[in-house]
Amino acid sequence: MTARFPVARLRRLRRTPAMRRLVAETRLDPAALILPMFVKEGIAEPHPIPSMPGVVQHTLDTLRKAAQEAVEAGVGGLMLFGIPAHKDGRGSAADDPDGIVQRALRELSADLGDATVLMADLCLDEYTDHGHCGVLTPSGEVDNDQTLERYAAIAIAQAEAGVHVVGPSGMMDGQVGAIRSALDAAGHQQVAIMAYSAKYASAYYGPFRDAAECAPQFGDRSAYQQDPANAAESLREVMLDLAEGADMVMVKPAGPYLDIVRRVRDAVDVPVAAYQVSGEYAMIEAAAAQGWLDRDRVVLESLTGIHRAGADQILTYYATEAACSLRSLR
Ligand code: PBG
Repeated sequence: MTARFPVARLRRLRRTPAMRRLVAETRLDPAALILPMFVKEGIAEPHPIPSMPGVVQHTLDTLRKAAQEAVEAGVGGLMLFGIPAHKDGRGSAADDPDGIVQRALRELSADLGDATVLMADLCLDEYTDHGHCGVLTPSGEVDNDQTLERYAAIAIAQAEAGVHVVGPSGMMDGQVGAIRSALDAAGHQQVAIMAYSAKYASAYYGPFRDAAECAPQFGDRSAYQQDPANAAESLREVMLDLAEGADMVMVKPAGPYLDIVRRVRDAVDVPVAAYQVSGEYAMIEAAAAQGWLDRDRVVLESLTGIHRAGADQILTYYATEAACSLRSLR
């Protein structure tokens, strides 16, 4: 060993912030962040969500204000979730032209036009009294094909209200194809589909079910969402969704499924999104509240990890905040 060892010194490119910035392999861009937002019918003030500190169920007015702030911060898109005043077995409010998401879409398109990408979750669980993502058979199972008809009607209602992208999240077989042909038949060929293709039956959705008031009243979602043990199956889901007409695909949750994000990214040539879900958010907030980790750094590190794994777009409750901090870091 000579005195000059080691010749390769990787630390040279880590010395200064400017050097690290120059050689960074991964850059987060606010334009690729999507903010999920909750809007609740019939409330006068926004309702905080205890398990998601900092996230609220919006009124139509506060939704418009928060959407404006997100767009000004450079966030690339908004994903809407509605909580109706009344739920029933078939989720009637989901495709009501006056339903809360349709009203929100009309107001946001009037405010923002094409300045952002307006997306809406397309599912029934927020709208059904039993909390499942579809309509039920008499014996209480989720009826796949009956549910597709409901999804088709919701897609048309959202398209008529001005949505740019629908996000089917119910994990019914054939949902993308049913939605694509319904949209096309109704003259909405221009509305895109971001398919929640690889969506796992995850305990990380816990806080969301408080936010959207949609916990299943019996059973769970394991008979339609994917088993966390499976990876190859995700590729099948993705390929089927693309064959049925999906424009973009999504992996969900993000952090515990980075291997899936990478496999999907390597397998397809469409945009691949990942959803940093409510439980991932809640864990960061809870640990930070205890003073156990540096919140702001963990927020950006968690998003960097998701992007590095291969996600082109990231749905995150931190979108506006992260967009602001990315701008101030520049
Ligand atoms: C279903 C839906 C869920 C989420 C997004 N869309 C919940 C579920 O499948 O139970 C979860 C999002 C999150 O946890 O942040 N409409």
